[in-house]
Amino acid sequence: MPQNTLTITDNRTGKNYELPIEHGTIRAMDLRQIQVDDDDFGLMSYDPAFSNTASTRSTITFVDGDKGILRYRGYPIEQLAESSSFLEVAYLILQGELPSRTELEAWSEEIIHHTFLHENIKTLMEAFRYDAHPMGMFISTVAALSTFYPEAPDIFNLESRTYQIKRLIAKVPTIAAFSFRHSRGLPYVYPDNDLSFTGNFLSMMFKMSEARYKVSPALERALDVLFILHADHEQNCSTNTMRSIGSSHPDPYSALAGAAAALYGPLHGGANEAVLRMLGAIGSVKNVPGFIDRVKAGGNRLMGFGHRVYKNYDPRARIIKQVADEVFAVTGRNPLLDIALELEKIALEDDYFVSRKLYPNVDFYSGIIYQAMAIPTTMFPVLFAIARTVGWLAQWQELLSDPEQRIARPRQVYLGQGQRDYVSIDRRRS
Ligand code: ACO
Repeated sequence: MPQNTLTITDNRTGKNYELPIEHGTIRAMDLRQIQVDDDDFGLMSYDPAFSNTASTRSTITFVDGDKGILRYRGYPIEQLAESSSFLEVAYLILQGELPSRTELEAWSEEIIHHTFLHENIKTLMEAFRYDAHPMGMFISTVAALSTFYPEAPDIFNLESRTYQIKRLIAKVPTIAAFSFRHSRGLPYVYPDNDLSFTGNFLSMMFKMSEARYKVSPALERALDVLFILHADHEQNCSTNTMRSIGSSHPDPYSALAGAAAALYGPLHGGANEAVLRMLGAIGSVKNVPGFIDRVKAGGNRLMGFGHRVYKNYDPRARIIKQVADEVFAVTGRNPLLDIALELEKIALEDDYFVSRKLYPNVDFYSGIIYQAMAIPTTMFPVLFAIARTVGWLAQWQELLSDPEQRIARPRQVYLGQGQRDYVSIDRRRS
């Protein structure tokens, strides 16, 4: 009968230790008993970038990177993208179950009810420079929201917490759209509560002088699917930031601003912006082989390729490719698509990429779609943040209800100087 334990022999001392294995993990704290002598701190695991460390137990999102599987609360992403809506998926991710019709109507109504921003928030946003990056505006404005809701730090009060969650999901599209309008020097468009979540967002982005913005059903649906695909992705960099900040128990606006800042980087939410810059720099299909050679020589990264977890195919990339066709049927074909397809074709056959298990990720095509929808590259991480707000909040809630979680505080391996005495400035080397 196999034991669910791990036996470790410490060759420094010859001692044996038996550690329990649960859910395919050992507890890092169980290593601490492994000491050379009583003065020894005890063994730790060293895992820069958390490549093989589970920081939490979670019931929200399942990813199997080797098989290319993504599920929210057990439901395959393909089925949700096909049949669900973003607000329904938001409910699922936050509550754990799909809503009934009545629950979905009430939930949608409540979200739509909270889309307006306090006028002072608008004034605050107007103070940014004319060319401010919308993501910088987004991060700062979300952080500023905390100052408008003094009850928000009461995070263990379920009623208050639920209220802030609804506010955040409802207000992030408005902040995002205002950031875009600001960068264009256009007047801000207030929410239209008769439109859907994504329809209203498109209206706030693009409405000009018409009495009511006419939403294209194809683009509305495409954006909804893109939001579904980006809603959560278990313990990624920004979610880990949300949990890490959340572990010191600030209000959710402050924690979410930090998560959005983590998303801003080109290795994470900034990747689709980087993909478009890369495609623009490549310029034409005939330049693709030369670019691939430069990537293989270590000169560039092929942006939109590779993933820390997916080592087979990012299932979201497959869905996005279909969405692209539907969008291009309305907007016309984005000429960058030909360069992207050629890059993908060559890379998928090339040993450099195959041996490193580098495949297109969700962001390889999302930027091309957004660009076809007239959304500028600087807005890409902002759109990602609108969708991921749901995942960040669900993961934050889970953290708060997990009795095993404490303030996040990793250890380090100190390799610096030992103790030495202070030297006055006139006695130091010149
Ligand atoms: N282009 C070329 N080579 C790559 C790429 C790439 N996009 N990604 C990884 N590699 C190579 C590395 O150089 C390394 O090669 P080596 O073993 O010869 O040194 C090997 O593949 C492993 O790479 P790591 O950086 O160790 O892989 P890691 O899991 O840390 O990185 C990451 C994952 C950050 C996503 C990386 O693949 C990357 O930078 N991709 C481009 C940026 C991108 O598209 N990010 C979006 C991720 S999806 C998201 O955030 C929604």
